[in-house]
Amino acid sequence: MTNKFNIFTVLGLLVLLQLTSCNDAKDQYVAVTHFTIDANGELERPTGYRSWVYVGTPVTPNDLNDGKAPFPEMHNVYIDPHSFDHYKKTGEFREGAILVKELVSIGSKAAVSGNGYFAGEFIGLEASVKSKEHFPDEPGNWAIFSFTNPEEGTLKQTAAALPTNMCNACHQANAEDDFVFTQYYPVLRAAKGIGMDVSPEDSAERKPSKKEVSIWDATVPTPEGLVLEIPLERNQLFAYLKEGKYRAYKNQEKKLHPSEGPHQKVGLPVKVFINDILAKSLEAGNTEHPLGSVSVKEMYDENSQPAGWAVFAKTHDKSDGGNGWFWYEVTDSEDATKIAAIGNGVIGCASCHTIGKDMVRTKFPLN
Ligand code: HEC
Ligand code: HEC
Repeated sequence: MTNKFNIFTVLGLLVLLQLTSCNDAKDQYVAVTHFTIDANGELERPTGYRSWVYVGTPVTPNDLNDGKAPFPEMHNVYIDPHSFDHYKKTGEFREGAILVKELVSIGSKAAVSGNGYFAGEFIGLEASVKSKEHFPDEPGNWAIFSFTNPEEGTLKQTAAALPTNMCNACHQANAEDDFVFTQYYPVLRAAKGIGMDVSPEDSAERKPSKKEVSIWDATVPTPEGLVLEIPLERNQLFAYLKEGKYRAYKNQEKKLHPSEGPHQKVGLPVKVFINDILAKSLEAGNTEHPLGSVSVKEMYDENSQPAGWAVFAKTHDKSDGGNGWFWYEVTDSEDATKIAAIGNGVIGCASCHTIGKDMVRTKFPLN
């Protein structure tokens, strides 16, 4: 009798325990959010996030962005720990996820370890929150906030969700996983859906180091078989330039002038040629030039001897930050192998050209 009683009690307790612990765990899982939306629907400034899970640091230094990086300069990105667990478990961002992007200035560009970008001071704070409850109308239920308040040197205490077009739209179009730029966060990529019992960093496996991607590399493919005013294949293009065929373009600068860009060094002589398609578009004041637009820039050395060409051609209807443009630069007029860049979406070229009129920086009409 006592035995039976004990067994039943133990069993009952076990069942009870299991039920409550299950419920607790589940409730805890869903209920723990790491942000607060106030009575006005604004996000309170996140705190404690430097102890969350750190996912990566994109760097967009001002000196690679003509002094105008939209988000200067280092971006330390964190995700709240419960959402990280959920992401490991399910491979998805949960309802109630918050990511924080803390902006840090570049303090110095040289250290005993070499030249580079070294963090300076904390300068700003942005956040994104996924919440159907609070933001049912935002695409993906993601709302994006900025607490950065550079004028006063302090962060805002609360922030309203920024207009969808200002922030969210770009995230929607370009971020790899549910509005989050996981393509730049190896910590998240490695954890996605692998389960709670594994810590990906514990494995000894590492990717063999690939060739470093430089800002002068193409980042997207150039369409094949496209027939434009210039050939896009490297040898044919060099031959075209060497033959000087672009000199038949009606719109060309009359004489050499010092370059305002680093082609190849600021101040060296250049001369710009543009084809009819581009000239018409510039004449019309278009903000987006049509497919087939071409410009060739002759470059010269200190002794005004030919020193290669910089070329671009629009291969798509949309500019897409430079992905819709083919970029080419060769720094020698005789040697076709001295290629500085070739292909679409060359970030080094596009980043400086974005301040032009759909990439075109030369004044029009040409001098
Ligand atoms: C033109 C595209 C673009 C726009 C517009 C944009 N972002 Fe982003 N955002 C990015 C990219 C790319 C990343 C990841 C790399 C980086 O930080 O540079 C990012 C990352 C973030 C992150 C980290 C989490 C994540 O989703 O990866 C936050 C937070 C963020 N942005 C906030 C904002 C805010 C606030 C605005 C509007 C003021 C905004 N973004 C506008 C492109 C954009
Ligand atoms: C740091 C800024 C900067 C970078 C990087 C840059 N350019 Fe330029 N580029 C300019 C400026 C400024 C002009 C206007 C003419 C001049 O002053 O040389 C120009 C002109 C041109 C032109 C003539 C049409 C126009 O826009 O005026 C072409 C073609 C061109 N660049 C191609 C390239 C290519 C290809 C690359 C990458 C290999 C590149 N540029 C990188 C600043 C830059």
